[in-house]
Amino acid sequence: MSDARPSGFAESAVQVIERQEWLVPLEEGLQRAVSAAFQAGGAAGRAVKNFLHGTWLGHPLHPVLTDVPIGAWTTALVFDALDARGRRWPWRSVLQRRADDAIVLGIVGAVGAALAGLTDWQHTGGTARRTGFAHATLNTLALGLYVGSLAMRRRGARRAGRSLAGAGFGVLLASAYLGGRLVYREHIGVDHAQRDEPNGFARAVREADLREGQPVRADVGGVRVVLVRRHGRIHALGETCSHLGGPLAEGEVQDGAIVCPWHGSRFALEDGRVLDGPATMPQPCFETRVRDGFVEVRRRPESGLAAA
Ligand code: FES
Repeated sequence: MSDARPSGFAESAVQVIERQEWLVPLEEGLQRAVSAAFQAGGAAGRAVKNFLHGTWLGHPLHPVLTDVPIGAWTTALVFDALDARGRRWPWRSVLQRRADDAIVLGIVGAVGAALAGLTDWQHTGGTARRTGFAHATLNTLALGLYVGSLAMRRRGARRAGRSLAGAGFGVLLASAYLGGRLVYREHIGVDHAQRDEPNGFARAVREADLREGQPVRADVGGVRVVLVRRHGRIHALGETCSHLGGPLAEGEVQDGAIVCPWHGSRFALEDGRVLDGPATMPQPCFETRVRDGFVEVRRRPESGLAAA
């Protein structure tokens, strides 16, 4: 297999973006500011952060919200095109009103998508962080063009309003390319948990190696599992964090949860469900039993995505 990178205009543009190292202080400062804002909000800030990640949804919220501006602004583009062609049409004023409504809806959706995207982006690094920064910059530019378009329309300058909206749509398409790249190339927002499962019960660790509240990593037939003894029970979850693949065995046990050492996602030891993001997808959960001094595990049929 070749490791050559794809070529073409879009790929070249992305490579130029990735080389802009002077952006690092800006990116780090913005990530710190976003993180500090949520922390300053205490429990409410954590609830808002979980909401914006999509922890309650079992899926990142950002891509869901992006459909609103894309759909609304595409609708406005069609109505604008009809408006520009049908100068004598009797229903022209209806087309204009619907185009304006669609632009307002898109602006509201874009603000929501931006908040969710920024919340997710604060935990990225490397080229994903740079691509995400460029994606956000283009989206902000598109949003500004649509706000300007709406202002022009409200003043009766419909031609200028249509031009600004057209420019905004072009910027939106470029930004959408980067958004797709974040998912398909950088694997942001996808499930990083290892979803393989041992066939039946399989040995994980010696029971004597488990100490109260201390996570232990085990390799069970190629499946990475973290085991925790707590209050007389032995819990076992997938060891690779569903958010970005962090090693849960190096995390802390707090109350009935294990905390990922990379970005602080909390998963319930009981069943692997997400208690706090940025993760949105549960950890695989395993049944445990002790035989001949060894802890054995097997995947719970109903755990995590196995139930899907
Ligand atoms: S890798 Fe990000 S919270 Fe675990």
